[in-house]
Amino acid sequence: MGYESMWESGAPEVAADLRPEIPHPARMYDYYLGGKDNFPADRAAAEKALAANPEFRATARANRGFLTRAVGCVAGLGIDQYLDIGTGIPTAGNTHEIAQAADPAARVVYVDNDPIVLSHARALMAGAGPGRTTVLQADLRDPAAVLDAVRAEGLLDFSRPVGLVLAAVLHFLRDEDEPYRAVATLLAALPSGSHLVLSHGTADFIPAAVRDRVTGVYDRATAPLVGRSREQVRAFFDGLELLDPGVVTVPLWRPGAAPAPGAERVSMYGAVARKP
Ligand SMILES: C[S@@+](CC[C@H](N)C(=O)[O-])C[C@H]1O[C@@H](n2cnc3c(N)ncnc32)[C@H](O)[C@@H]1O
Repeated sequence: MGYESMWESGAPEVAADLRPEIPHPARMYDYYLGGKDNFPADRAAAEKALAANPEFRATARANRGFLTRAVGCVAGLGIDQYLDIGTGIPTAGNTHEIAQAADPAARVVYVDNDPIVLSHARALMAGAGPGRTTVLQADLRDPAAVLDAVRAEGLLDFSRPVGLVLAAVLHFLRDEDEPYRAVATLLAALPSGSHLVLSHGTADFIPAAVRDRVTGVYDRATAPLVGRSREQVRAFFDGLELLDPGVVTVPLWRPGAAPAPGAERVSMYGAVARKP
């Protein structure tokens, strides 16, 4: 099934201020993954990040693998509605594809603050009829506004468990953006039995000089890159029940096959947890 038949046709119009001259993390990530939805400034910045840390591309792919396995796990537990914030430019194995492969009636609301993500969704939605997947423009730094927008759109039933997906997005929030408060606010709106799927970049395994070069690249992009330690990532799950194996580097989260050498030093942690 193509995207055209899956994306909700009623997403709000937004001015697509793509600012191609400024690197955008969504487009840099698209470039790491081998996508074509990026501009020269994005590619130049991504190449600088790759020059500082050649593992970036493998880390992005490992994160996508985690997303697939983690959403598949949550779908297998019977969750049939998802709020995925920090959607990214559509690529292979998006949340709605995983969720709707498990349950064709599953509903997915995507949220991103980057107009290019909205722009792609609009293009994909051209000619679409009513669907079970929609995309909204909102900012994770204002979680109350995210929840208002999602409620107004009416696709999710907040009286039933929801899969909250925050994959590779919280590292774009500085401490002063209050990322822990954002996650707590979102979780507070969800009922018992909801699940959190979260992945987050880390500098735990790279020398400080490499970290500084990479963060320097993102400081000139539209969002900074804030690596957090394993303990700091674990703190996002406070009050939740972590599913096995807890907070691990993303390739080590329930790998389908033997992980590649060095999997324990990939610069992204991930975990899944249940709200009691
Ligand atoms: C690295 S991509 C991750 C895409 C996908 N979740 C994945 O894990 O493959 C991060 C996405 O988060 C979005 N993003 C960054 N800061 C955000 C914010 N404050 N609010 C909403 N989305 C944000 C970016 O625009 C980008 O699309």
